[in-house]
Amino acid sequence: TKVLLNNRIVDLKSANVNILDRGYQFGDGVYEVIRFFNKSYFELDAHLIRLKESCEKILIPFKMHLKKLESDLVYLMNTCDYDNGYVYIQISRGVMNRNHIYQDEVNLKPQLVAYTVREDHRPLQQMEKGITAYLTNDIRWLRCDIKSLNLLGSVLVKNEAYAKGAKEAILHRDGIITEGSATNVFIVKSSTLFTHPANHLILNGITRKVVLEIAKKEKLEVKEIPFSIDELLNADEAFTTASVSDILPVTSVLIDEKSYSIGLGKRGEITKRIQDSYTNLID
Ligand code: PDD
Repeated sequence: TKVLLNNRIVDLKSANVNILDRGYQFGDGVYEVIRFFNKSYFELDAHLIRLKESCEKILIPFKMHLKKLESDLVYLMNTCDYDNGYVYIQISRGVMNRNHIYQDEVNLKPQLVAYTVREDHRPLQQMEKGITAYLTNDIRWLRCDIKSLNLLGSVLVKNEAYAKGAKEAILHRDGIITEGSATNVFIVKSSTLFTHPANHLILNGITRKVVLEIAKKEKLEVKEIPFSIDELLNADEAFTTASVSDILPVTSVLIDEKSYSIGLGKRGEITKRIQDSYTNLID
């Protein structure tokens, strides 16, 4: 595995970072995960713009040219011996002696790390069969629009879901569904799509954006408005979206120990239509 370390490509074993990096000590940084198919990145521009915006939201100066970063990432992808996978990129605020306050540090330089991971196939079986999601409290902070390195809330809820035998955690704040631990959530009711508005309570997913574009093209009605737990349970269809986990039907929802099936308990027609259009964009 090759690693992009700032502007050098190095071997994984020599890609060392300082333990005083604020990403390590504070989770003080941001990241992106970008899928590639047949050695071609999917929605690269949208991801890099979001990376830049995440940096700006936490006041990490973003001085790289997007075109340069883009060509570095293409170069990195071309060093690997597989055609399908994803790239993980993180930017941390930099290295300094541990102190919550960073503003007085003169030599603080943001640190960029990126590497690729092989992922041969889309999750075809789950795309067809669907998944069980576990409903739990959204215990995260109030700036979920930032793709922060600090993933403790997501890690805890996802492991809680996994322990219950579910594939994803669907999160709610006071009974309103926000998103999944690492996915956005959509429901379909009477052929209308509903998803939480892209505000500070969710990550504005790139796959979410692509699905909204598909819905528009397919003349499906979309409402970016909050919906409740009851509306989720009474939906005709539900699905999650994310770059790597793709578009997955949610066929049942687990609340405490009780399982509720969504719609007919299998992948819905509209979910399938959206998956098919998404496939056309990738191929
Ligand atoms: N997760 N919501 C959250 C909280 C996420 O962490 C993610 C992505 C998404 C979907 O975003 P996108 O469609 O842009 O991938 C929504 C990444 C992939 C991860 O943490 O691995």
